Amino acid sequence: MEKISTKATVRFFNGKDIPLEMHKVKIVQSISLVPVERRLEAIREAGFNSFLLTTNDIFLDMLTDSGTNAQSDAQVSKMFIADEAYAGSQSFTRFQESVLQVFGKKYVMPAHQGRAAEHLLSKTFVKEGSVIPTNYHFTTTLAHIQLCGGRVLEIYTDEAMKVKSSFPFKGNLDIEKLEKAIMDYGKENIPFIRMEASTNLLGGQPFSMENLRQVRKVADKHGLLIVLDASLVGENAYMIKQREEGYRDCSLASILLEMSGMCDIVYFSGRKVSSSRGGAICTNRQEIFDKIKFLIPVYEGFLTYGGIPIKELESMAEGLKETVDEHVVNQSPGYIAYMVRELDKLGIPVIMPGGALGCHVDAGQFLSHIPQKEYPAGSLIAAYYIISGVRGMERGTMSNNRDVNGDDILADLELMRLAVPRRVYTLSQIEYVIDRLNWLYQNRELVGGLRFTEEPPLLRFFIGRLEPLSDWPAKLAEKYRSDFGDSL
Ligand code: F0G
Repeated sequence: MEKISTKATVRFFNGKDIPLEMHKVKIVQSISLVPVERRLEAIREAGFNSFLLTTNDIFLDMLTDSGTNAQSDAQVSKMFIADEAYAGSQSFTRFQESVLQVFGKKYVMPAHQGRAAEHLLSKTFVKEGSVIPTNYHFTTTLAHIQLCGGRVLEIYTDEAMKVKSSFPFKGNLDIEKLEKAIMDYGKENIPFIRMEASTNLLGGQPFSMENLRQVRKVADKHGLLIVLDASLVGENAYMIKQREEGYRDCSLASILLEMSGMCDIVYFSGRKVSSSRGGAICTNRQEIFDKIKFLIPVYEGFLTYGGIPIKELESMAEGLKETVDEHVVNQSPGYIAYMVRELDKLGIPVIMPGGALGCHVDAGQFLSHIPQKEYPAGSLIAAYYIISGVRGMERGTMSNNRDVNGDDILADLELMRLAVPRRVYTLSQIEYVIDRLNWLYQNRELVGGLRFTEEPPLLRFFIGRLEPLSDWPAKLAEKYRSDFGDSL
């Protein structure tokens, strides 16, 4: 393994643990904070679903980091040299070179975003009765696997469900349970094992290199493929460097190559991994490439653009190279670690240790008086928006579908995700997020539950509408007004 000295973190003389930004701002966008009365109206208009709010009514948009990370000057400048061509574009050649450099994979198939890659992989490998063992599902991954007749088997470690933990790798896959699953379901029914880097729905939690090595061993023993969802791979690599014995002096580039080298197929969302648009599937195995590639012109676009504007292909190529720059990748996890530390000091339940993507507040504990069937995570997001103008995302029971009997599938974790898009917000804005969350925690008994009034059969959290079970939103806004006076 290549060992080179890499960028050190700057320490403060005063001993404070404060994340220091290694970038400066060149272009800014104005945002505004509308009054609490308008926020109350806006969340009603949005059917108490934060996806249905519009940005005019939002102060800090912490819905997601997907497509909202700040781009670098290098990425933007590369867009100007985009080689516009339907087929054979030089921009695609540069993208291929980046994929080879970062993931060590020579065959690459572009797709319009991450879930498009999931669609193609599921269409190629998943059949009626297939079982896919994974460290945890992601919403769109699950939908595509199920639409092809397969099911997902989540085999996370026991630590993954402990909210307050010091376990560094809550995204690990449980090896004993994996062996048992292969015995129970038969390797012929397992088209691949899926490993998700910085496991999104577990709170952005990484797996360790050692865990991946063990998964590889099991896969080799049974002749199974490993598919890596690399949408948040830079952060997973960074956390391996921070937390795993033997990796402190390794470059992110070498860690990424080692991870990718153990996986047969790597796919990713460009919107997340490289602050651009698009996505891709890559592999070193020609037979896999041949099996999937004909689907690209059917569902995405020609093999050299995959439904992505060519300039975005350039941005993705550049963004991928930046994924191995520690000063780029550590910005969001640094802010998240700061938030987690400060919120924990205030006694507010958050997923610990901090991971990638966002700070995850445990709505189950925060609003322990609200039963899961009344969507505590959804309620917390609506309440928090009303009192702060900050938009988070529900990652709990609302994000699950219903079972065959029409009952809610209760989530393992009821989370309010406050995403921290890379290099977008400032530390004083983060302080505001913490401050308002603290106020809400002191007033949490004012928050009540929600129920659906309009509910799509699949991925209902995106466009479903809800209503409060009592008039708690108005009472909450009233209390806010009486505590904060004329402050927005
Ligand atoms: N895999 C993971 C781990 C993701 O986090 C996402 C998207 C996808 C696949 C799908 O990629 O959006 O480009 O189609 N996550 C976003 C989020 C939507 O907000 O967490 P996509």
